[in-house]
Amino acid sequence: MSDLRDFPDVSYSGVHHGPLQAGEWITLSDPKGRRHSVFLERGRIFHTTKGGIAHDDLIDGPDAVVIRSAGNVEYLALRPLMADYSVSMPRGAAVIYPKDTAQIVTMADIFPGAKVVEAGAGSGALTTALLRAVGIHGEVISYERREDFAEVARKNVTGFFGGEHPAWRLEVGDLVESLDETDVDRVVLDMLAPWECVDAAAGALVPGGVFCAYVATTTQLSRVVETLRAHGEFTEPRAWESLVRDWHVEGLAVRPGHRMQGHTAFLVTARRMAPGVKAPRKKRRPAPGAYGDDYSGPRRSESVGDTPTATDSSATDT
Ligand SMILES: C[S@@+](CC[C@H](N)C(=O)[O-])C[C@H]1O[C@@H](n2cnc3c(N)ncnc32)[C@H](O)[C@@H]1O
Repeated sequence: MSDLRDFPDVSYSGVHHGPLQAGEWITLSDPKGRRHSVFLERGRIFHTTKGGIAHDDLIDGPDAVVIRSAGNVEYLALRPLMADYSVSMPRGAAVIYPKDTAQIVTMADIFPGAKVVEAGAGSGALTTALLRAVGIHGEVISYERREDFAEVARKNVTGFFGGEHPAWRLEVGDLVESLDETDVDRVVLDMLAPWECVDAAAGALVPGGVFCAYVATTTQLSRVVETLRAHGEFTEPRAWESLVRDWHVEGLAVRPGHRMQGHTAFLVTARRMAPGVKAPRKKRRPAPGAYGDDYSGPRRSESVGDTPTATDSSATDT
């Protein structure tokens, strides 16, 4: 693996300028738009059904060129954007797709200098976006309980930045057992049971900090939202999903694309109240039967909401 010193990139953005170099990833696209990720190494050949492409013919040359295979087929060679890299890099666990990463970065309000806790690191796709958003003055602490996945994440993240990112710490372990951070601005969870982490996240987050969970199924969505409510010291959770539809634009044929990604996951965010301050109860009554006999999930205790809210206490200060 190359060292960051090979790529004088003071911003640690993962973006490389200048001629293509051995030790970086490029994307080769064939005439049908099929894309292949290639790790450039001197002396290597990328084999296609239409003949080989010598890495040496790209190394030391410019980005964004057209290269011909030995069989005379044109391939577009480009440095991948972060979104391209995250969907084509080697995977251990399933990755968060760019449409959801974009939502997380904005809606969980990941900012330069933020201290962010993430779990699980999985393949490291979200990690790269978090690191890019927090920058070198921030901190991303990623927990991953599977050592093999942690290794995949480490390779992918260092591969993207060209070496160790100074703002990143990868902890191999279960977040519930190992999280001992405080003053955390944001907690972002992509795992099977994020509700198990609500207490640990509450202990780590600063007042006003953002809890964000990414869950694939409605049963997970319900459980994490109700656990946040039952905890009491989080604001009313917001739950949503994002649907992205590509468009075909060609002359007079301008229409939605035939294919779209139907479902990836749901997102949930809530803000951490100051310790000991209960979030105001929702004013509206729950829908009839919402918490009827069939409901067996987490419930808010009756006393919740009786204590002063953050708004109440600040009102007495003025
Ligand atoms: C879907 S993957 C995360 C993918 C990652 N967000 C990405 O974009 O590449 C979920 C990961 O969470 C890990 N995991 C599940 N529960 C965990 C916990 N309590 N603490 C740490 N890691 C956990 C799993 O081992 C798995 O690798």
